[in-house]
Amino acid sequence: MVNEKKRVLSGTQPTGRLHIGHLVGALRNYVSLQEENNCFYSVVDWHALTSMYSDPGKLQAYVTEVAAGFIAAGVDPEKSVIFVQSDVKEHAELHLLLSMMTPLAWLERVPTYKEKKAQITDKDLSNYGFLGYPVLQTADIIIYKANLVPVGEDQLYHLELAREIVRRFHHITGTSIFPEPEAKLTVARRVPGLDGRKMSKSYGNAIYLEDTEEEITKKLLTMVTDTRRVRRTDPGDPDDCPVFDLHKIFSTPTEQADCATGCRTAGIGCFDCKKVLIPHVLEEVLPVGDRVKRLKEDGDYLNDVLDAGAIKAREVAASTMDEVRSAMNLKRH
Ligand code: TRP
Ligand code: SF4
Repeated sequence: MVNEKKRVLSGTQPTGRLHIGHLVGALRNYVSLQEENNCFYSVVDWHALTSMYSDPGKLQAYVTEVAAGFIAAGVDPEKSVIFVQSDVKEHAELHLLLSMMTPLAWLERVPTYKEKKAQITDKDLSNYGFLGYPVLQTADIIIYKANLVPVGEDQLYHLELAREIVRRFHHITGTSIFPEPEAKLTVARRVPGLDGRKMSKSYGNAIYLEDTEEEITKKLLTMVTDTRRVRRTDPGDPDDCPVFDLHKIFSTPTEQADCATGCRTAGIGCFDCKKVLIPHVLEEVLPVGDRVKRLKEDGDYLNDVLDAGAIKAREVAASTMDEVRSAMNLKRH
């Protein structure tokens, strides 16, 4: 049997500097998927505007940051299509058409919508675009007929919704234009920040790709651990420790086993445990940070990559939209 290449699409919002949550939660997967599949990786600037609309001054700097991050992490512009969402206007057209048939109730019950509205109090998120965020995300994915979507755990509901919208579209139009996209979770489903909550710029608990060796070391040395280990002699539980979650992402299996035993028996202290982790984080993150810095300095190269990516993405998106317009009887001839 011929092993047909699958289509992959993912998007990253340009809302700030990239941190190790992006690197191990998504970018590692972007890179591993590109060898065997047909991959499209997008800097989703319209999505960023759903929350940054009133203050878009830094948007272009963040677009550059994210595009540089993709390439620095190992996404190869010769193998994958790297593009900016707003360069492909077809996403907006498909979003509009999908919005006609997406029930409001489906959007109002999206957990990320409810959570963000509750958590983010310094911005007004009672706007129409923010509610429609997952519909735009669905358009991003299905316009490339993507089968796989590398994302973190927090995006599972959006993917479920995308499949529901696809089924509804097919039911209403009597077509079967789109595959039902599936999430491809990374090994690091959830990357903890320095305070144990999910790593996020808005929590101020992130290790950034461009942090220096000293900054990364200091952040990890002060990172919270299992609260049971008040004194050095108190045993802990690695399953309740965010530092150990990072061990699982960065350290070798033997080191993980040794640290876990040492923790449970109070054989080692948290400082010793962190000393094992830190070199691994530095080894992976510092070279990526260096490349991000250098890529950002070479704006022409990045622009060329994004311009070429837009052309390739547009070609696929335009052809899908042709089918969609027919399905919705939008063609006069
Ligand atoms: N919602 C995603 C996030 O916050 C970003 C995103 C937008 C996306 N469009 C996408 C992810 C399409 C995967 C596929 O991480
Ligand atoms: Fe966490 Fe390691 Fe300390 Fe145990 S020893 S609580 S795993 S940092």
